[in-house]
Amino acid sequence: MDIDMPALNIASTSYPAAGLSQLLRKGIDRLGEQRWLHPLNDFSAADALLADINPMWSLTEIRARIESVFDETPDTRSFWLRPNGLWQGFEAGQHVMVSVECNGVFHQRVYSLSSDPARSDLIRITVKRQAGGRVSNALHDQLQPGDVLTLAKPHGDFLIPASQPEPLLMIAGGSGMTPFMSQLQALHARGHALPVALVVSARGEDGFIFREELLALAARWPALSLHWHDSSVDGRLDAAAIARHVPDYVSRQTLICGPAALMDAMQAHWQRLGISDRFRSEAFGAPRMAVAAGGEAVAVSAERTEQVFTAAAGQPLLQAAEAAGLSPRYGCRIGICRSCQCRKTSGTVENLLTGAVSSAPDELIQLCISSARSDVALDL
Ligand code: FES
Repeated sequence: MDIDMPALNIASTSYPAAGLSQLLRKGIDRLGEQRWLHPLNDFSAADALLADINPMWSLTEIRARIESVFDETPDTRSFWLRPNGLWQGFEAGQHVMVSVECNGVFHQRVYSLSSDPARSDLIRITVKRQAGGRVSNALHDQLQPGDVLTLAKPHGDFLIPASQPEPLLMIAGGSGMTPFMSQLQALHARGHALPVALVVSARGEDGFIFREELLALAARWPALSLHWHDSSVDGRLDAAAIARHVPDYVSRQTLICGPAALMDAMQAHWQRLGISDRFRSEAFGAPRMAVAAGGEAVAVSAERTEQVFTAAAGQPLLQAAEAAGLSPRYGCRIGICRSCQCRKTSGTVENLLTGAVSSAPDELIQLCISSARSDVALDL
């Protein structure tokens, strides 16, 4: 029997007195740590019991049921999700970390939200199948309507300002289109009347994600102009192509999301023009990290597990820890989700994305994008 959510949604914030979830949490808190009360005083044990009754029920986790799936292109699929009451909505341009079980092991990946942010009851992620990608292939091959996923809170600052006083240019490469789909719906809903030009690049006619949806949006929103760039015919998307599609591009605020190579080239062009303050970007693939050349391996002390291992110069500490047999928490592995955040108690580290070097004691670092510049100690 399927017990539907609204009447008995443990996580529902619409339940009287700020939600049954909060009442239960308070109750569990009051029970303290007496062992004989277990599992009534243990959130994870209580969650496991609730999940046996209904996988959407949780005191602590955002869970979302897959309502429907839709193939946007031959290798890109959208999942419409109905989250439980712990989901608090998102802002256009944000992403969410999704946990998926593959062969009994949970893996996490980050996906942009591609739906209208005005709707928090039904949200969409759009996933491109990656060659050898464990999670994207599991999502495509194993999941179907009715299945339940676990989500983290939405994150990200690739946002459109509350008021946008200038014409916009959005440049989307491949599945970099996903945050723009959400942003365009938000701008349209807000009655944005200044010009918005969207340049979308894909390989082949059938590679354009959301094509029909974008055409429908442009038909009812005259401010939006669409520019399709089929790289199999038009060549690589570069600055000259942008100038052909949108001749007044230098006078626009520009947002770009796509593969790192595309964004690096565009960023360099905007810098050469001296207008990099009009340029904002969001990567969806692994960023290229600036690995320090040379340098010696250093010792890393994992204080909690009392292990010492070595990390090569420029090697992300997450990789080094895994190579040593440790299993730190991680999600995106590209510096976005902060799942790998860990306290460094001593030593010098380099942020491989920004090049910033820090020797401050007791600071939080992201293991996936930090390398050790000296011997370091971690609360790991
Ligand atoms: S794993 Fe996501 S920030 Fe490190």
